Parts: sequence; C-alpha cells; structure tokens
Amino acid sequence: MSASREAQIDIENLLRADEVHKDVYVNDHVFDLEMDRIFGHAWVYVGHDSQVPNAGDYWTTLIGKESVVMTRDKSGQIHVLFNRCPHKGARIAGDGCGHVKGLFRCPYHAWTFGLDGKLRGVPYSEGYQNTNFDLEDPRFSLKKVPRVECYRGFVFASLAEEGDSFEDFISGVKSSLDNFCDRAPLGKVRVVGGTFRVMQRSNWKVFFENLNDTGHPIATHESSYKAARQYANQELDGEMPFQLHIIDGNGEPPEFWANLDLHAFEFGHSYMTAIFKAPNDPLSQAYYASLASAKGEDSASEILSVSRHNTIIYPSCSPHTSFQQWRVIRPISVDKTLVEIFTFELEGAPPELLQRTFIYSNVVNSPSSIVMTDDVHVYAECQRGLTTQGGDWVSQHRKAGQDKSFEGADGGLIGEGSSELPIRNQFSAWKRYMLGERNQELRSPGS
Ligand code: FES
Ligand SMILES: [Fe+2]
Repeated sequence: MSASREAQIDIENLLRADEVHKDVYVNDHVFDLEMDRIFGHAWVYVGHDSQVPNAGDYWTTLIGKESVVMTRDKSGQIHVLFNRCPHKGARIAGDGCGHVKGLFRCPYHAWTFGLDGKLRGVPYSEGYQNTNFDLEDPRFSLKKVPRVECYRGFVFASLAEEGDSFEDFISGVKSSLDNFCDRAPLGKVRVVGGTFRVMQRSNWKVFFENLNDTGHPIATHESSYKAARQYANQELDGEMPFQLHIIDGNGEPPEFWANLDLHAFEFGHSYMTAIFKAPNDPLSQAYYASLASAKGEDSASEILSVSRHNTIIYPSCSPHTSFQQWRVIRPISVDKTLVEIFTFELEGAPPELLQRTFIYSNVVNSPSSIVMTDDVHVYAECQRGLTTQGGDWVSQHRKAGQDKSFEGADGGLIGEGSSELPIRNQFSAWKRYMLGERNQELRSPGS
C-alpha cells in the first residue's frame, strides 16, 4: 500500500467504544491495510498436520493474500513455504492438496526443490556457470514463512519475523484446542472427507461477528427452525432426531440465549457455551465408554463437561469442539470471503460418531445447508446495505459496558449471552493490529 493511501485512513476515527464506521467493511484501502497489518502479522491458521500425513504430501492455502504451501518432509517435519518459484515466480503447487515424490518441480522450467523448499537442481545448469547464480544461496530456494508453530497438529504461521509469541496468542482459547483433541480416546484427531467451500459476498469480519452473535438465530434462522419443527410435527409425531434437533436450537427464546456465557480474550478470541445439550443416545453412550476406557471415567466426564459452541481464533478460524468442525476464514477482497469447513475424526471413537459429525457438517455448515444459507444471505445484505448512503456507523451497543472480568482459569472477560462483547473484543484486537501495537493486557473492549 502506498504511503499516501495509508495516510488517508485514520484508524482511530473509524472506531468508537460501541460503534464502528462502515468503512471498515467497505473501503478497499482499509482492506489492503488489514492484509498488511493484521494478516501480515497475526498467527494465521494454515491447516492440520493430518492433511499432510506422508512425506511429499502438501496443502496449498492462503495467509492473507499470500499463497503458501504446507509440506511434510521425510523426517516428518512440517514446513510452510511461500508458493513462489525463485526463477520467474510461478506457483510451484496448485490449489488444495496433493503429493509429490520427494521433490517439487516447478511447472514452468522444472527447477526442483526439496520438501523443505531447498533448491535441488536446475536444468541447463551449464548456463549458470560464471554467473551470480548459486545453488546454495537461500534466495534461490523456496522462501520459508518466517514463523511456524504446530500445537497438537494445528499449524499456525506468521508472516512477520517478530511479534507476539504463539503461546501468548493462543493462551485464551488454548483450552478449546485441548478439548478438541482430548475428546479423542487416543488423544488425536484427523481431517476426514473433503472440504466444503463457501464464497461469501461479504467482508471477512461480518462472518467472525456472527459466530458468537446470539441476537440473530431466532430471527435469521426463522425459516429453517420453523421448517424443522413443522416436519417433526407432521411427519414424526413431534420427535426430533439429531438432524432436526440441531436446526431447532436456533429457535430458542431470548431468555435461553441470555443465559449462555460469552468469554472474550486478548487478540480478539472468544467462545460461547454450548447451545445443544450433549445427546444421551446409545451412540453417545458407546462414545463415552470408549473415552472412559482410554482415560478413566473421571477424565472422560471432565472432558465432556467442557461444552462449547463456536470458538473464535481471530482472525483466521473457528473450531466447534463438540461436533469436530473447523471453519477457516480467508479474506479474498473487501466484499468477498472464502470460508472452508473441515470435519475431523476422533481417533479411537466408535466409527458411527464420525457419521454424526458429518451430519452436523451437512446440516449446519455445508453450502447446501438450510441453516448456513440463512446466514450467508444476511451477510450479503449487510454488505449491500453498508454501501448505501443510509448511515455511517454500525452499532455494537448490546450490553456495552456491562461485561465483567472473569477470574477463571482462562481469564479474560465474560459477558451475558446476549452481549455483543465478542464483537467489541474483535475490534479491540483489530485496532491494536491496525495501529501496529504489541499486545497489552486485555482492556475493556472498545477502550
Ligand atoms: S518459473 Fe519456476 S522454473 Fe522457471
Ligand atoms: Fe446463524
């Protein structure tokens, strides 16, 4: 971004304690600055190591606007490399997942690279004699993303050489990552099935704001939960099988949502307590038995007592610990956002549990879900409305000033279920990133 454009954006003037200016959603220059200041610095989710189980496997994705490749080498180590050939710049790996036999070969002139990105060979090598080219010079290898961390298989990376440590970054919501894995009797999870992809016609922050927004389900999802109830009443004598139960939950009354807890942490992270009670059907009992046999009854009960809906790991992903979903948020442009949905298997759990996970994925998160389409529709309506001259500010007033410090193990702030705390908290982190500040103690969101 040019200095003149940057100077036109006054970050402080875009934020109030309980409102944000619409430019944060619709201004291209703000988006460019976000790619630089937020996605150029934050720890961004790259993928799970089970997506590259064998040496030579790779997974291509985005960190901000940067195409990157996650690889596994022969020693088992994971690498995250910029997807850019040092010769003329071609991407050395296409989108999605793939496998190479020991070497990446650039599709253009066939320079070859090891799984760690090191240049191995160039055709017509005699042509490079007596030139400044040097096979051993790192600038002729694939460049590594500066900082990479893998926690329990979840790989995050930062484009910045220096900055907040991953440990500091993740501390508030580390318990969600632990619970995600601890629910597996063997303590490990892995990605299974394909990837759902949804291109949303809205700014990336609109999606994040929605994930812990309890004010919207009863209105936005009216058509889907009413259809589920109607079907149950007319066809199933009022019975609610799992498929309908997880749609029906969105129709809970305001008191229900108010009684949930919202927990917000440094770096814009948060989570909300679960909407759905853990089922107690034969499958759930068999799953509990598998967990108890591996870890003991006390541990199994403690693990399953951690019951959360969406966790937000700002600014790139959102795990759902109870139903083994993981959504990844990739901003494409100021008004376009790619959301990818991954489904995980709990190693050591009964195979039928995976079917339930797929049901959740299909019913709630897939592109053809009747629940997600409700959300995607209102996101696009927000984006269109924000471009009108109908007003400059976007409200975040619900329960503003009423959030409390939380003294539990995770620290942070806690808000009543209907609070817009998570949204204000995201903008607190947004402001810090955009101003280039290092992290400080969690302040009152919006301060
Ligand atoms: S661009 Fe990669 S080898 Fe030429
Ligand atoms: Fe929703």
